[in-house]
Amino acid sequence: MPIPERLNPSFGTAWPVASLPVDPLEEARKRLIVALDVPDAASAARLVGQLEGNCCWFKVGMELFTAAGPAVLGPLVRRGHSVFLDLKFHDIPNTVAGAVRSAARLGVRMVNVHAAGGPAMLAAARAALDGVEDPPELLAVTMLTSMAQLKATGLDRSPSEQVELLARMSLEAGIRGFVCSAEEVATLRALTGPEGVLVIPGIRPAGSDIADQRRIATPAEALRLGASYLVVGRPITQAPDPAEAAEAILKEMAEAL
Ligand code: C5P
Repeated sequence: MPIPERLNPSFGTAWPVASLPVDPLEEARKRLIVALDVPDAASAARLVGQLEGNCCWFKVGMELFTAAGPAVLGPLVRRGHSVFLDLKFHDIPNTVAGAVRSAARLGVRMVNVHAAGGPAMLAAARAALDGVEDPPELLAVTMLTSMAQLKATGLDRSPSEQVELLARMSLEAGIRGFVCSAEEVATLRALTGPEGVLVIPGIRPAGSDIADQRRIATPAEALRLGASYLVVGRPITQAPDPAEAAEAILKEMAEAL
């Protein structure tokens, strides 16, 4: 499957604006990112084999990357899939800039950093992509969707206040892509306008297991609130039939578009 072209920029505002006719199911496919949270390359390859008829975006995060290394990305990229490398870099500016540059060399289409790393770290991450041809989208993670205990970490703000503060800081550093929960997507859409790339994990189809996630939404809710992309892991990867689960989610997304 070819790498998806840029999403219709009108999404998240008035939809559809006078533009080319859009097949909702095709559009849904371009917006669903499957999280390959599995322990080894063989399990990832098995899942991709089951899903690639329907899905074109795959997310490689800490579990798989730590087990299998950058080599796990090659087959995905060569098969024409778009890859989100979800390692949530958070370190001193120089180290994060180097990590973002290394990620760009791997051919991934999205890479992310923790917004909580601060203005200098965010600016260094963004500057690391200057001059890179066809760079990946740089996303700032505002607050983890599993996080519901800000006070325990010493922060005396509500999650929405914290997310907004981090988003404004990231925008000032020149970053227009965000990972946030569905609870904040409308606020971030208002802040970024149609150019913002809003990636939403914590997606749970009605009736599915919440597990450790806290700030969740259904696929349709997240899209209606202004999400650009949805990240879905366990509701697909741990379903008895992952392809069937992905199809059901894509259908729900298509109906919401
Ligand atoms: O299995 P589930 O659908 O909960 O997976 C969500 C994925 O999104 C996981 O890979 C998790 O690391 C990632 N993620 C998240 N919350 C964030 C950023 C990334 O859940 N804020």
